[in-house]
Amino acid sequence: MYMIKLAIFGFGAVGRGVAKILIDKERIRRLIGEYTVVAIADSKGAIISDSIDLKKALEIKNKEGSLPERLTVDEIIDSVDFDVALELTPTNIKTGEPGLTHIKKCLKKGCHVVTSNKGPLVVAYKELMKLAEKNNVKLMFEATVGGAMPVIKLIKRDLAGNNIISIKGILNGTCNYILSKMEKEKLPYDVVLSEAKELGIAEANESYDVEGIDSAAKLVILANALMNMDVKFDDVEIVGITKITPEAFEIAMEKGYTIRLIAEVNEQTLKVGPRLVSLNNPLCIHGTLNAVLIKTDLAKEVFVIGRGAGSIETASAVISDLAEIYSCEVNK
Ligand SMILES: NC(=O)c1ccc[n+]([C@@H]2O[C@H](COP(=O)([O-])OP(=O)(O)OC[C@H]3O[C@@H](n4cnc5c(N)ncnc54)[C@H](OP(=O)(O)O)[C@@H]3O)[C@@H](O)[C@H]2O)c1
Repeated sequence: MYMIKLAIFGFGAVGRGVAKILIDKERIRRLIGEYTVVAIADSKGAIISDSIDLKKALEIKNKEGSLPERLTVDEIIDSVDFDVALELTPTNIKTGEPGLTHIKKCLKKGCHVVTSNKGPLVVAYKELMKLAEKNNVKLMFEATVGGAMPVIKLIKRDLAGNNIISIKGILNGTCNYILSKMEKEKLPYDVVLSEAKELGIAEANESYDVEGIDSAAKLVILANALMNMDVKFDDVEIVGITKITPEAFEIAMEKGYTIRLIAEVNEQTLKVGPRLVSLNNPLCIHGTLNAVLIKTDLAKEVFVIGRGAGSIETASAVISDLAEIYSCEVNK
């Protein structure tokens, strides 16, 4: 039986979550058959072997902070034989790098790619998809939007044949945590933000989340991938949540509404901003959850809710993409 060779690029929260799931051979064999991990890389080093002991790799990373062999991802792509790259490096929505170069090189080499990295898709969605098609390989990216929450394959596969009229959702758990806490405890934005930072829910530099940039990046991916658009990050009208006050919540609540950061795409709109949401609307969700309301011509309304981040949760989406690649092969 053919042994599928996997390479993991990026060994942070998501990369390590994926490695932990891949240790469970029984679970993964049922999905894709026999497999082995032949390369793992972080920003400073790598491990290369015909069959990497993932438990040991995780121990080394935890203990040493970086992987031992002085090899870059570019060098690995040039010199190691693998079938699928799991591209899990940090997101840069301006340049797409380093993921953009990694993904292009892998696709050109004829390898499938699964990524959780929004950057390359925001910068070059159409180009990457054409490259994948030309090289007869798949580029999968479920984890880029909504973490564990299924939305991309759900729309592409389970809502196949539908025209997507609009997608409207909460795509950033940090903002939703802050807003739902402001709503419940009637606290000012700054106080809740500091608390979210202490809990590790908000980053030290929170602007990417609270300015609506992360939600807008995800909206661009949804629009291009699921609504056949050709839009760029600059096409999104973005307002963040930094100016929301407890008084705004008070007025909204009196009328039966709350405030949430909503990302919305339809034929006319590509917008991220704080919106009034009725208290009995399904999008009135709390905490760090993500949710998406999809309107289509045939199935009408479909609502999904789930965890938008987390090491194992996001790894769940990466694994589901891996399974999809090989179920496609089986069905060919
Ligand atoms: N965490 C989540 O819940 C989540 C959810 C959805 C999507 N994502 C996306 O998934 C990706 C990974 O997220 P994460 O939370 O795992 O990030 P992370 O913890 O910061 O890990 C990133 C990993 O990439 C490595 N790296 C950085 N530059 C590299 C390079 N040039 N070559 C090889 N490796 C490089 C880092 O190396 P070092 O270890 O040496 O620093 C680290 O191992 C990001 O694009 C993020 O936006 C994350």
